[in-house]
Amino acid sequence: MASGSGGGEIAGGSTYDRTKEMKEFDETKAGVKGLVDAGVVKVPRIFFNPPDVHLREPEDSIHMRSHSHAQTQQLSFPVIDLKECITDNKDLTPRKEVVDQVRKASETWGFFQVVNHGIPDTVLEEMLQGVRSFFEQDIELKKQLFSRDVINRRVVYSSKFALYNSPSANWRDSLYCLMSPPPLNPDQLPPVCRDIMVEYNKQMIRIGNVLIGLLSEALGLSPHHLADMGCTDGHLFLCHYYPACPEPELTIGTTKHADYDFLTVLLQDQIGGLQILHQNQWVDVPPIPGALIVNIGDLLQLISNDRLKSVEHRVLANKIGPRVSLACFFTTGLLPSARIYGPITEFLSDHNPPIYKETTAKEYTTYAATKGLNGISALEHFKL
Ligand code: OGA
Ligand code: NI
Repeated sequence: MASGSGGGEIAGGSTYDRTKEMKEFDETKAGVKGLVDAGVVKVPRIFFNPPDVHLREPEDSIHMRSHSHAQTQQLSFPVIDLKECITDNKDLTPRKEVVDQVRKASETWGFFQVVNHGIPDTVLEEMLQGVRSFFEQDIELKKQLFSRDVINRRVVYSSKFALYNSPSANWRDSLYCLMSPPPLNPDQLPPVCRDIMVEYNKQMIRIGNVLIGLLSEALGLSPHHLADMGCTDGHLFLCHYYPACPEPELTIGTTKHADYDFLTVLLQDQIGGLQILHQNQWVDVPPIPGALIVNIGDLLQLISNDRLKSVEHRVLANKIGPRVSLACFFTTGLLPSARIYGPITEFLSDHNPPIYKETTAKEYTTYAATKGLNGISALEHFKL
């Protein structure tokens, strides 16, 4: 539950019962979309986003999308062409160049976009449309999946997930699908987006393995090293729907966080609003038609002993909407797995002692999901 959900709290200068208002909102089972459909013109106070006390933000950084400084930084946001890596090219020189780009981007930005990844544009478009159709279908059909119980259920819809806990409610609804392992029976997927999700899932398994192979090589390991460690053995989808917001400056689409997984592959539509924290500045991740966004998660930072960086990001609320996105998280953190992860021994020496203690994906995820968003990375807790 949200760390700030107890007792009377101050919002807009008055004390109110946050827990009660959260509960009332939850019980509608209609999510944020339900509020917008009902015609709200004021953002309810449970959605007020507290100022970020851990980051001294320049006055204008909240609205950097229209700010010239953001424009300059966008130019260098890494975009990597995977064309040479998805075909059986005998000449390994172009692949080596891609590996270098992946290394640089993962060490400095923790984020990059990929193009020519082999997934047809039609599949990406239909997937975004499928997510949109899920959220815009008859509320009674959606309600059947309304739950936060990701322990006992593999497909649930909610307006807020414990997995991405935050002090304020987010201006967003999400559909969670645990895809593997074992492979989810497609019958459990919502009929309205079932077929395209099955297709998109196949593509995610393929691209996840391509990317984890490139990352292995970027780290100077054999191409199969990270896959053999189980980094792509499990994955889940979080499909997000960010309704248009009447007062976007008062709330947030997704609170600042880093992903707890090994690797995330994100598909976003053309609305924009995703930002990453780069050199203490919020930088937009510009929507590129046909591109996928890739980011390094905490577990990859941990096993790479800080060579790769898991970077904080957030999604602004927007007057324009809805915005649709789909994050595919590669992790086994929601399954009971005894597999131990610590810094890979190849990276350790007298000069490079291990930074992190050993843990399991489940232990890491459980800790990260329950600590609450206090501005301190969950990785700190696992430092030696
Ligand atoms: C996430 C996330 C970004 C987006 O789900 O972890 O960061 O654009 N999503 O929805
Ligand atoms: Ni994220």
